[in-house]
Amino acid sequence: MLLITLLLISLTPAVYAAGNPVAGKFKAISCQICHGKDGHSTNPLYPKLAGQHAAYIEKQMHDFKTQKRIDPVMNEMAPSMSDQDIADIAAYFQSVK
Ligand code: HEC
Repeated sequence: MLLITLLLISLTPAVYAAGNPVAGKFKAISCQICHGKDGHSTNPLYPKLAGQHAAYIEKQMHDFKTQKRIDPVMNEMAPSMSDQDIADIAAYFQSVK
């Protein structure tokens, strides 16, 4: 059942909680050490998150959380984040120009 649920969640980004970009800006402070100020990464090792689609960011974070996508750093960070944290951060980065 859990697997089916996870599969459904991963296939339907629209079911995620609605993100609040204002809360997300605060929650995304720790991300900027690597992903750059407001997600404008200048280091090719770290993807740019500024202006990225929220649904894409949310999917990646859930994939890191469930180890569907493997990266030693992000697999450490993602599990401590709630669905609401992820939605807020995704909404924030999408709102950045
Ligand atoms: C210590 C450095 C570091 C920190 C801090 C960090 N990340 Fe990452 N992040 C990475 C690396 C490295 C990758 C690239 C992984 C890969 O190559 O697959 C990545 C990838 C990502 C991706 C996938 C981007 C894409 O284009 O596919 C997202 C989304 C992401 N991080 C979000 C976050 C968020 C949100 C935070 C803060 C809660 C955060 N990261 C904090 C290093 C970091």
